Amino acid sequence: MTATFAPRIFSGIQPSGGLTLGNYLGALKRFVEKQDEGIETIYCLVDMHAITVWQDPEKLRQQTREGAAAFIAAGIDPARSILFNQSQVSGHAELGWIFNCVARMGWMSRMTQWKDKAGKNAEAQSLGLFAYPSLMAADIMLYHATMVPVGEDQKQHLELTRDIAIKFNNDFGVDFFPVVEPLIEGVATRVMSLRDGTKKMSKSDPSDQSRINLTDDADTIAQKIRKAKTDPEPLPGHLEGLKDRPEARNLVNIYAALSGQPAAAVVAEFAGAQFGAFKPKLADLAVAKLSPITTEMNRLMKDPAEIDRILGQGADRAAAIAEPILERTFQITGMIRSRRRG
Ligand code: AMP
Ligand code: TRP
Repeated sequence: MTATFAPRIFSGIQPSGGLTLGNYLGALKRFVEKQDEGIETIYCLVDMHAITVWQDPEKLRQQTREGAAAFIAAGIDPARSILFNQSQVSGHAELGWIFNCVARMGWMSRMTQWKDKAGKNAEAQSLGLFAYPSLMAADIMLYHATMVPVGEDQKQHLELTRDIAIKFNNDFGVDFFPVVEPLIEGVATRVMSLRDGTKKMSKSDPSDQSRINLTDDADTIAQKIRKAKTDPEPLPGHLEGLKDRPEARNLVNIYAALSGQPAAAVVAEFAGAQFGAFKPKLADLAVAKLSPITTEMNRLMKDPAEIDRILGQGADRAAAIAEPILERTFQITGMIRSRRRG
């Protein structure tokens, strides 16, 4: 018998730096769409994931608040969605430990993100960085979430989440954890660096010119797009003309995602145009879409106590959902739970 689970969305973003246009298009914007479709949505600033690599404590706190401000400014309504930071709900760490005992070393060693981040120097990485995907599986399973909107780079971690859930169910002969469905949709599932069309746009890239930050002002956004790497050819009239032109394709995809059109419509509109003409249009569009968010973020950041209050309230609501699931997990695994709580 296969249990059925109510549709519930969970997703997370690391507060390990300022958010980028990649986070906005690949994650945040879609989080808002899911909320507005009326599905139950739980969104988390995963501060415990962030500390798998060194974080300055004061900056981490600041970036967590800034992340929360970005969610709200982008349209997440803390009354409709649950918005909180991971470390306030201890169930993440507790279920994460149980999953560390279910997942296999071999599974973790095959994660491309681990291999990329650890490079040739695995010995010097934190144990937490290695176990990172197991904590991510716990984030999702703690709420019996069934759908996870993410960018393309998280696909492998979600496959691992499925493997952990299936192995737990098999090991204990239960049908308890759902097999989650990744939601990797749209034209902006992988926004690339403005300096190198073969690299993902990332908050950890050493070059600030490689990305657009949600905190950038209008002039900075326009200047970064003007300087973005391109090739000397004009824009083609069909999508096939973008083959082997990663930088050109990236700018077209960004335009498409920001304007809510398919990429084919964008190339049809700009067929034959030079980048000198396309880039100012893209800059205007990016500023028009992002500057209201930046302005609202700045306003929210003036009241950090209010942000902390929202995160606390979100954590209370998250914990209420997590508690019975965690209790049942402990029971299934053979832990005695006789302490009086409350
Ligand atoms: P992170 O910043 O690594 O915590 O990522 C948070 C979310 O943003 C995840 O769903 C990522 O897949 C998504 N994301 C991060 N960078 C990009 C990018 N360059 N393009 C599309 N999605 C991204
Ligand atoms: N690993 C994700 C990233 O770096 C962040 C994350 C942590 C996450 N836990 C999650 C995403 C649970 C979705 C669901 O992008």
